[in-house]
Amino acid sequence: MIDFKYTEEHEAVKEAAREFANRELKPGVIERDSKMEYPTDQVRGMAEMGFLGMMTSEKYSGGGMDTLSYVIAMEEISKIDNSCSVIMSVNNSLVCWGLETFGSDAQKDKYLPRLATGEWIGAFCLSEPEAGSDATSQRTTAEDKGDYYLLNGTKNWITNGGTSSLHLVIAQTDKDKGHRGINAFIVEADWDGVTVGGKEDKLGIRSSDTHTLMYTDVKVPKENRIGEDGFGFKFAMKTLAGGRIGIAAQALGIAAGAYELAVAYAKEREAFGKPIAKHQAIAFKLADMATEIEAARLLVHKAAILKDQGKDYLSAASMAKLYASEVAMKHTVEAVQVHGGYGFVKEYHVERLMRDAKITQIYEGTSEIQKMVISRNILKGELY
Ligand code: CAA
Repeated sequence: MIDFKYTEEHEAVKEAAREFANRELKPGVIERDSKMEYPTDQVRGMAEMGFLGMMTSEKYSGGGMDTLSYVIAMEEISKIDNSCSVIMSVNNSLVCWGLETFGSDAQKDKYLPRLATGEWIGAFCLSEPEAGSDATSQRTTAEDKGDYYLLNGTKNWITNGGTSSLHLVIAQTDKDKGHRGINAFIVEADWDGVTVGGKEDKLGIRSSDTHTLMYTDVKVPKENRIGEDGFGFKFAMKTLAGGRIGIAAQALGIAAGAYELAVAYAKEREAFGKPIAKHQAIAFKLADMATEIEAARLLVHKAAILKDQGKDYLSAASMAKLYASEVAMKHTVEAVQVHGGYGFVKEYHVERLMRDAKITQIYEGTSEIQKMVISRNILKGELY
């Protein structure tokens, strides 16, 4: 039987994240966004709350929580500050989860506790100037030199690019082998040859730290390769599938945050002698928002629960991200409309959420990539 009620533990996670986001993230969020100011104190606060390694085992100093707890926390934090929630998402789903699931014991012992506690922040370096959606076309190379690899190349749009201490870098080791010649490497940001390029000036999530990273003759010890030789593309795909659940939760939080603001405003603002929420033009918008946000939440929770149950979640993760990001874009636009002129100014928060929504249709695989993943699984007979 499906029980739609949160357990006490999940309820506690929701309350803790909601309270933290309102107390610690909301003050200054508009200024940080305007000035593209990295949320240093807020990230420290998230680390203290245990939000940066929620799903990592306690053995490695993580929270030992399930994916459902993580998406519940992501939703609450994303209602307020999406620069913070993308930092949280990349560190949890791509870096900590990728390392714990596919790394060697030595790699986990060495790196995971620092990442899960937020002492170190990690970055996931797959995208390149000419390899975004087409991820097998990696130009970054890692030449096998015996006991080390020599890494050369450029990575683009890297979240946590300037502030991370550890990079998971995907690179081509043998071009002739196609995707089977790709490997993933753990690279420390302060190694010789690692250069951080300029910070991107973005439409949304403006205080998160997005950079180009350059690798020039970086010596990567053999023991820092993740998995067997040639496992890098599958490592990236499997890790991104989980990452998409986190970004789906971010999109859900953006939509739900804009909805909460729209409802509060519509109940308070009067026009033509009554609160605008009582005018059908606005009431129907709120009804559509509430319905579609709930549908997105069910998809996000389903993907998280499948992952927690050890079942296949690839299609569910893509569906959740595809739908939640469309709902986020559509309903943040509607939330601005409900606010009228107030919605167009920064003070009311909805214009920022509208700008933040767009990236959820782009990063960790565009909406078109999610449709590719889903439609391939339809053709394989895995979806009906
Ligand atoms: N799990 C396991 N294996 C997988 C897989 C998965 N999810 N997806 C593909 N594979 C395997 C395939 O089975 C195949 O292996 P075999 O040849 O052994 O059968 C191999 O990988 C190649 O697969 P495809 O032929 O399907 O590869 P493709 O070139 O057609 O690409 C794709 C598939 C789904 C389009 C993929 O390239 C993709 O997901 N692209 C988008 C990349 C992306 O999401 N980038 C985001 C950057 S990260 C980011 O944004 C982080 C941030 O900072 C916020």
